[in-house]
Amino acid sequence: MYAVPGDKKVKVGVLGATGTVGQRFIALLETHPYFVVHALGASARSAGKSYALGTNWKQTTPIPAGVRDLVIRPCNPEHFQECAVVFSGLDADVAGDIEASFRAAELAVFSNAKSYRRDLNVPLVVPLVNPHHFNIIPQQRALHSPPLQKGFIVTNANCSTTGIVIPLVALERAFGPIESCIITTLQAISGAGYPGVPSLDIFDNVVPYISGEEEKIEWETLKILGELAQTDGEFAFEMHAHTPLRVSASCTRVPVIEGHTETVSVRFARRPAPSPQQVREALAAYAPAVQSAGCPSAPRHAIWVHEEPDRPQPRLDRMFQQGAGVSVGRVRQCPVLDIKFVVLSNNVNIGAATSSIINAEMAISTGLIAV
Ligand SMILES: NC(=O)c1ccc[n+]([C@@H]2O[C@H](COP(=O)([O-])OP(=O)(O)OC[C@H]3O[C@@H](n4cnc5c(N)ncnc54)[C@H](OP(=O)(O)O)[C@@H]3O)[C@@H](O)[C@H]2O)c1
Repeated sequence: MYAVPGDKKVKVGVLGATGTVGQRFIALLETHPYFVVHALGASARSAGKSYALGTNWKQTTPIPAGVRDLVIRPCNPEHFQECAVVFSGLDADVAGDIEASFRAAELAVFSNAKSYRRDLNVPLVVPLVNPHHFNIIPQQRALHSPPLQKGFIVTNANCSTTGIVIPLVALERAFGPIESCIITTLQAISGAGYPGVPSLDIFDNVVPYISGEEEKIEWETLKILGELAQTDGEFAFEMHAHTPLRVSASCTRVPVIEGHTETVSVRFARRPAPSPQQVREALAAYAPAVQSAGCPSAPRHAIWVHEEPDRPQPRLDRMFQQGAGVSVGRVRQCPVLDIKFVVLSNNVNIGAATSSIINAEMAISTGLIAV
């Protein structure tokens, strides 16, 4: 296990630094024990301006003093060569080419965009669930022409997938495979970026459609919860094929600013299924590897289990542990499947920026990034 020695600082870059996720990176990194924001990138609309002038800052804390006067750069790797880590909050329309060029320039990229989530050699890592999928990175580097020594891409999950897979992995570790899962999401408007959904569409309303979201949850869950299998020295994601998992998601947008609420019903392969009390205990006890690896941004409680019948609620619970864990409540018997519950996750923190930050901490902790 590698640690960051003494008070050594690690320079990081942020792409898409002016957006919803990019701003959250900047806000979270202000108090980070070793990451220091060194370079910022955004579109040609913002490049050349100081961060304070080029950003429509929407966070609840002021722009960090060390970032205010940094000049926003075009998203070109030459401006980021000193960065050991590059966090990307880029719009998916442009993330694919830009992130590939950063990888090719031997930079370590932690992406929030969907562009590489389905790539056979890119890990889709929710840090509280599957950091062991980093093991595919040497294969990703080797496939590049010429083979890379340091560059790679790691992606985060879609924000609504992240909230689901954290309780699901805890349940699978405790009780074995889940074979069916039905999810309904109540997703916050910040999930669509800024300015996002027009106010006249979302006030006094629920929108029962988010383009591409249901497919993302149904597919990404399998990649994240499935094994990274190795056959004849080659790694491949087995997509939960050992026990086929059927996932059905219905996604809605609701007039909440931050925090995705999701109702979940699961059926276990094992019979008899665990009781609600056993499920509560397993969720509360879940201890992800990033905690024992000493990742400083890992939440103390990966899953906080509420006993109160009217929790979790986005307004009350989304910033618990700086939005780094998830909150589960209303664990009860499901008359159709086995168990049902409600989960709340902060879509901008553990659903986006915090996941990337913990992934980068884990990559340093395991020696994937040498500092
Ligand atoms: N919001 C969430 O809760 C959430 C959660 C998980 C994942 N994500 C994903 O994270 C990514 C960012 O989402 P967001 O909500 O932060 O979006 P956003 O608020 O719209 O921000 C997009 C960022 O991309 C930059 N950008 C746009 N076009 C560009 C170009 N041609 N070249 C360089 N930079 C460009 C923008 O810079 P300018 O300001 O200069 O235009 C801005 O910094 C998306 O892929 C999204 O799907 C979002």
